[in-house]
Amino acid sequence: MKRVHGIGVGPGNGEYITVKGYKLIKQADVVFIPKSSTESFAGKIAKDYLEGKKVIELDFPMDGSGREKYARAAAVLDKELKEGESGVFLTLGDPMVYSTFCYLMEELTKLGIVVETVPGVTSFLAAANRVKMPIALKEESFYLCDGEPDEKVLRSADTVCILKTYKNKEKILDILEKHGFEYVYVKRCTCEDEQLLSARDEIIKDTDYMSLIIGRRKLA
Ligand SMILES: C[S@@+](CC[C@H](N)C(=O)[O-])C[C@H]1O[C@@H](n2cnc3c(N)ncnc32)[C@H](O)[C@@H]1O
Repeated sequence: MKRVHGIGVGPGNGEYITVKGYKLIKQADVVFIPKSSTESFAGKIAKDYLEGKKVIELDFPMDGSGREKYARAAAVLDKELKEGESGVFLTLGDPMVYSTFCYLMEELTKLGIVVETVPGVTSFLAAANRVKMPIALKEESFYLCDGEPDEKVLRSADTVCILKTYKNKEKILDILEKHGFEYVYVKRCTCEDEQLLSARDEIIKDTDYMSLIIGRRKLA
């Protein structure tokens, strides 16, 4: 039997990896990380725990078609992991939140590999804590999305967090202002180069992929 744990390594600072995740990384026969044109962000977060480990990069080409690229990555993982061995796949934040691992685990399961996951500190929870903005108080709702928020959903939310804001920030800020939300742009949360911005023009100028916008309905 082969076993793989998807480990959420948190938002950026290695100290946010859970003890459970750390132990599984240390015990793993092989560590898998998503391939990147620069350095893998998940690999960088966990780098202090990877010394002496066999690390394999899995490629998920941006232009590759959906299911096929995950099936190909799963086949590489299957080949690298011997019968009886266990591996970990490192993923940014939490494995169940906008994560490649959700697609990969389906393909691994089809190959008969046993899959488990370990939660991680998500980017939006890390950001809420840095900004000291409650995600939800009694009887409130929270809306998480990527890209442009759906205005119908936003109407019933008290707090919102938008991931992958790099494409259309101006539109996102227009929507938040129209619906009476105050907001903060959080870039590279918990990393050494973390930035918190609230001025509209500064937010629009920035193009970092590792950024999000967290907003809360202003009190009437
Ligand atoms: C593919 S999603 C991964 C989300 C991740 N699984 C999680 O639990 O937060 C990538 C997006 O997460 C957000 N993100 C991840 N890490 C971040 C960080 N340290 N600071 C700000 N945003 C971050 C950004 O919006 C980025 O575009």
